[in-house]
Amino acid sequence: LPAPSAAVLALAVRVPRRFLRLPDLAAARGADPDKYRSGLGCLEMGVPAPGSDAVTLAAGAARRLLADRPEEAARVGLCVVGTESGVDRAKPVAIWVHELAGLPRACSAFDVKHACYGGTAALRMALAWVAANPDRRALVVAADIARYPIGSPGEPTQGAGAVAMLVGYDGAGEAAWTPSPVSGTCARQVGDFWQPLYLRDARVRGRVSIEGYLAALDGALADYRSRAGDEPPPDHLIVHAPFPGMARKAHRQWAAAQGIDAPAAVAADFRARVAPWLWVNERLGNAYAASVFLSLAGLAERLGPRPGGRRIAMFSYGSGSCGEYCTGRLGGGAAPVVGADLDARAAVTVGEYEALRAECLALEADGSLRDDPEPSGDGATFLGVRDDERRYRRD
Ligand code: CAA
Repeated sequence: LPAPSAAVLALAVRVPRRFLRLPDLAAARGADPDKYRSGLGCLEMGVPAPGSDAVTLAAGAARRLLADRPEEAARVGLCVVGTESGVDRAKPVAIWVHELAGLPRACSAFDVKHACYGGTAALRMALAWVAANPDRRALVVAADIARYPIGSPGEPTQGAGAVAMLVGYDGAGEAAWTPSPVSGTCARQVGDFWQPLYLRDARVRGRVSIEGYLAALDGALADYRSRAGDEPPPDHLIVHAPFPGMARKAHRQWAAAQGIDAPAAVAADFRARVAPWLWVNERLGNAYAASVFLSLAGLAERLGPRPGGRRIAMFSYGSGSCGEYCTGRLGGGAAPVVGADLDARAAVTVGEYEALRAECLALEADGSLRDDPEPSGDGATFLGVRDDERRYRRD
């Protein structure tokens, strides 16, 4: 058995109940559908319901994770949410999750933010906390809603989702995801993507963001190699996927760093190392901080239980910017049902997507509180705002 180590013991996901087919969006925006399908690689995008926000998505994933694990829930002493879709300048998403998931009073709860890197930063913090509190558990949730202006280049890459992770000591070698203690990091102030506090969607310099991402991968990988030394190549490479085409660019750069340059070899390597998880991103879109972990869940689902696990390399990128590269072991215990959740979604038209989006944004204003709204589907519903205070209902 491997030595006991701090790890993600189990994880659960939550995705929106509705989706939009991207050829429909291309037609509405007058774009070539091939640009979305072959250029960006996007097929569908998740569309959040009114009453669904970062809190309900995060709480939905957390409740799903802990529903059958009351003993584990009672041991949780740290609740950290990695998100860039926060709902208040002071009050963290994590304290709502703490209540809606029924966590113990003896617990600390707070959010971590650095764009799409927030979930990875939260997980790193929880792993260190568990090392100091080996008999306790931490709950980490990465949750986000990706929103760009209507008609902007980022619009076809939108999506949403949450992944909840139970972090603790793994004595039996059965954890879902055991990241290496050693990681490589790269931080650099870049004006590539940001979300002003007074707006509800992101601003982005597209090409600058792609360059910033690739530069961070370069820096984090070099730092990792200087710390970890020579290692055999991983079985799979997961990278933050704002859209599938970005994963392709990142893989090409990563493969070149491994000495794989010939186009046919790069394509075969991509099929083996990246394609087994990219299907989630193709069908869901970007879920910012949750994206790398949705990819991890998708890979686990595609591979099925495998004794001994698989070695995975993971690169997380947050605009602004910070990148982290690590390796780790994907265990047999990780088998969340992402595919079934994606299959169960209802398709919406472009008109319905635009109306749902407008309804979501209207709910953010004071006086929006509704008496009897449709349940969000997340297990908790955002009811709106009254007297400048958000209200939620456990469904
Ligand atoms: N058929 C096939 N391919 C086509 C095509 C067609 N008709 N038309 C265009 N393409 C290809 C282009 O060649 C291009 O591919 P390459 O990059 O491989 O050259 C691709 O489709 C996209 O075309 P454009 O570059 O013209 O697209 P754009 O500039 O309108 O928008 C984008 C692309 C800038 C990425 C935009 O989607 C965007 O702003 N996205 C949000 C920001 C983002 O995701 N950045 C990624 C890095 S930052 C990050 O990772 C953090 C995060 O989550 C936000």
